Amino acid sequence: MSVKTIYPKRGLRGEIRVPGDKSVSHRSVMLGAIAMGTTEITNFLKGADCLSTIQCFRKMGIEIEQKKERVVIRGKGLKGLTAPFETLNVGNSGTTTRLMSGILAGQNFKSVMSGDESLNSRPMGRIMTPLSQMGAHIYSVYGNDCAPLKIEPGRLHGIHYQSPVASAQVKSAVLLAGLYADSETLVTEPALSRNHTELMLQGFGAKVTSVLHSDGCATAGIYPCKQIYGQKIHVPGDISSAAYFIGAGLLVPGSELLIRNVGTNPTRAGFLKVCEAMGADITCLERQGTENLGEPTCDILVRSGTLHGTTIGGSLIPTLIDEIPMIAVMAAYAEGTTIIKDARELKVKETDRISTVTENLKAMGAKVCPTDDGMMIEGGNPLSGAHIQSYLDHRIAMAFSIAGLAAEGETVIEDSQCVDVSYPEFFETMETICN
Ligand code: S3P
Repeated sequence: MSVKTIYPKRGLRGEIRVPGDKSVSHRSVMLGAIAMGTTEITNFLKGADCLSTIQCFRKMGIEIEQKKERVVIRGKGLKGLTAPFETLNVGNSGTTTRLMSGILAGQNFKSVMSGDESLNSRPMGRIMTPLSQMGAHIYSVYGNDCAPLKIEPGRLHGIHYQSPVASAQVKSAVLLAGLYADSETLVTEPALSRNHTELMLQGFGAKVTSVLHSDGCATAGIYPCKQIYGQKIHVPGDISSAAYFIGAGLLVPGSELLIRNVGTNPTRAGFLKVCEAMGADITCLERQGTENLGEPTCDILVRSGTLHGTTIGGSLIPTLIDEIPMIAVMAAYAEGTTIIKDARELKVKETDRISTVTENLKAMGAKVCPTDDGMMIEGGNPLSGAHIQSYLDHRIAMAFSIAGLAAEGETVIEDSQCVDVSYPEFFETMETICN
């Protein structure tokens, strides 16, 4: 049990770098493991979730060296994994579970994946359905559509899957299984979700297609291939981690922060659009020539100022889904009303974030009302420090730590160590800008 006490601050200053992107780090290990030859990754996120992915592939015979500056993976090709001797421990990581399901579905050995209590209660039917349609043998061990998941060898064929949710994890599971199928595999989603898998697969030599339709739906496709090949990957800074310090710079009076090397892939950068819509003083300084495997980066300069409410919904939601806890905190400090809608997916994250965000905002004195697909926040009143239950959700712990910097009085974050999932140095970085 770890507890962190946050005190109100004024005038945050400094230049910081955020850790590598979690989504890109996971994918770099997975593709590196099933590629032929060496993959070298710099700026890899050493958060608990990505370390779970590394451990799982080590258990399937892949040599992965973790050096200070880089991770080196000796890939053995699409069919080079070996049967694990034990259950693959996916920890708290939905990305590990869902993406790896796509890869495991194409192997000729049996495997079982299981995680922590939160992970084992998250919906896996969403990947079991399309993978089963492709011919995979994937089962929920307790028959509740949740992990533990058991995967047995099956012959995969190409399908065109119409996903009911805009989910990069679902799309990626299907595309990764598509590498092992006997014909083209397509996934159509109701709005474009993050496209790191498509970009990276292409960079590793797979034949990938992407179409954005006029009605906002998006289709990604992959052709089966004999082999993909190891690459050098520089992971951009995680915009989801940057969001906390962008929020801090905006909310704490008298602040000016420069956040370097933030990934700004348009399928991830909805948070920046929302900042703009709220009237934030924020400048993105494009970093020319730093793009790696199609992933652009920016340096972001933030100055504090008055924010106003906005409405967020539709196809913007998948581009900022993980940033909603931080956006909700910003909304509570902003003048006027903010409406977050079309975000039912919040209910199936590491916690039900409609409930954990609104409960904690209320504890700090904010006027907030949960809805079935989001929340409504009446902002503009000062918040007061409170006891925050993180419920072991890293994004709740971080968003409310920032809320505490701008609040009156002390804020106590319960189980604060859960930030290790995606941002192990979060509190150290926070100290550097507070001094
Ligand atoms: C992720 C996709 C998103 C996001 C998660 C990481 C990924 O989930 O919330 O933190 O790396 O593909 P969904 O794809 O389920 O929306």
